[in-house]
Amino acid sequence: MLSLHFVKSYKIFKEKCQLHSKNVTALKKHLPSYVKQSLASRHEDKEHSSFNILSVGSGTGEIDIEIANIVAEELCSNGNWENIRILNRALEPNKFPCAEYEANVSAMIENSPASYEIIPQTFNEYRNSVSNESVKFDLIHFIQSLYYVDIESAIWYCMVEKLKEYGRLVCLVGDKDNITNKIIKQAKNKTMTKDNHDLLTSEGLEISSEIVKFAKKYGWHYVIYSVNLQLDVTDVFFPDSVEGNLLLDFLTNTENYRCNVSALELNETLDYIKQLSVERNGRRYSEKKDSLLILYKDE
Ligand SMILES: C[S@@+](CC[C@H](N)C(=O)[O-])C[C@H]1O[C@@H](n2cnc3c(N)ncnc32)[C@H](O)[C@@H]1O
Repeated sequence: MLSLHFVKSYKIFKEKCQLHSKNVTALKKHLPSYVKQSLASRHEDKEHSSFNILSVGSGTGEIDIEIANIVAEELCSNGNWENIRILNRALEPNKFPCAEYEANVSAMIENSPASYEIIPQTFNEYRNSVSNESVKFDLIHFIQSLYYVDIESAIWYCMVEKLKEYGRLVCLVGDKDNITNKIIKQAKNKTMTKDNHDLLTSEGLEISSEIVKFAKKYGWHYVIYSVNLQLDVTDVFFPDSVEGNLLLDFLTNTENYRCNVSALELNETLDYIKQLSVERNGRRYSEKKDSLLILYKDE
């Protein structure tokens, strides 16, 4: 179960690299043409069908809302699909983000082009609980959430069992050279105060190449786009900075890292963060590269 502390530290991390806005920009740039292609191939009755989205690891829902809006825009501008309903089913096993998700979607329910359903389950729990359900999806997305599942089995299940014929699987993942992965890798070699599985599994370190490997193995089409970010790490060097300490916790995947490790280990980690970042206009930034992958079966 994710702690409230992790949710807070992830929020700071997102702010410090403008993750949400960079993700949204990348999705707005690349996703529409794949939705358009998929709509052009659909044979369903426009009056009686719906555009179904499955969001896995939906967090607090901001990205789900953006994706549903991108889809709504495409539906309106491509072949009179504007009357089709959009159903967004979100899987989020942790209660803190779930509660925020509900608040976020209910705040905009009046003007929303989509209806939202949140299921408080892990991907595997959901998979087991819907084994007899026939609902299929036009779009399934894992936005920064493939780290928590078995990648091959999850993407196989989505591509083969849960996507409609012309559906798209969208994955946004951090690349292995990211500062977060490097620091966690370095920290894993030291004595950690607590074995914390909140963030990345070791598979997460190579995740985009894993996805490509499986796409090739099963003969699916895939495209991959880079999303470049700059993480502002300046505050981790200030011991009294609340934001800096939350960011340090996120980067090391350890709650209250500064207080819970030896002075030697802390200094080594801070030195390492310094090595991985550059100074600009009085602040320190580290490059971060994410990948947006879109998988599909049709031409
Ligand atoms: C890094 S957050 C990303 C949230 C959101 N997609 C975003 O981009 O803002 C990953 C989310 O996946 C959820 N999660 C963790 N394990 C999961 C699992 N086994 N199945 C589904 N979701 C999971 C976490 O609770 C967390 O909210």
